[in-house]
Amino acid sequence: GAPVEVDISDVKPGEMKVVEWRGKPVWILRRTPEMLASLPKNADLVADPNSEKIFQLDMPEYAKNEFRARPEHKEVLVTVGICSHLGCSPSSRLAPGAQPNLPDDWRGGFLCPCHGSTFDLAGRVFKNKPAPTNMDIPPYMYLADNKIVIG
Ligand code: FES
Repeated sequence: GAPVEVDISDVKPGEMKVVEWRGKPVWILRRTPEMLASLPKNADLVADPNSEKIFQLDMPEYAKNEFRARPEHKEVLVTVGICSHLGCSPSSRLAPGAQPNLPDDWRGGFLCPCHGSTFDLAGRVFKNKPAPTNMDIPPYMYLADNKIVIG
């Protein structure tokens, strides 16, 4: 598939936009400072904190850490919105706090409606969930501060 160019100037902090790449949904989430600060705290709660396991795509080097994003804009998460269990698309549960089917101390992330896998705001799966790996991070790069190319 061809690379996809995306203008992200309309994605405000705390907001997400979805684009299609190779027939898959790619989520682009501009994380707030609070959202970023929540990620190191998840280290012991997620199954694979440094993304050593591969789902469908080779893991880019910039995805092998708690932010899973290119360092020049680590606030922007770019991830393939597909659950590594049986391929459903999780739904965003970005706000922290108690919500249906989520722990009271939920810090924000994603919930797969099919079998209940939960992911943090870096697409890392929480422990003891059916999904075996973190969500894929596609290859992408910045053409300008608000323009990325995926693929
Ligand atoms: Fe997501 Fe089963 S497909 S938990």
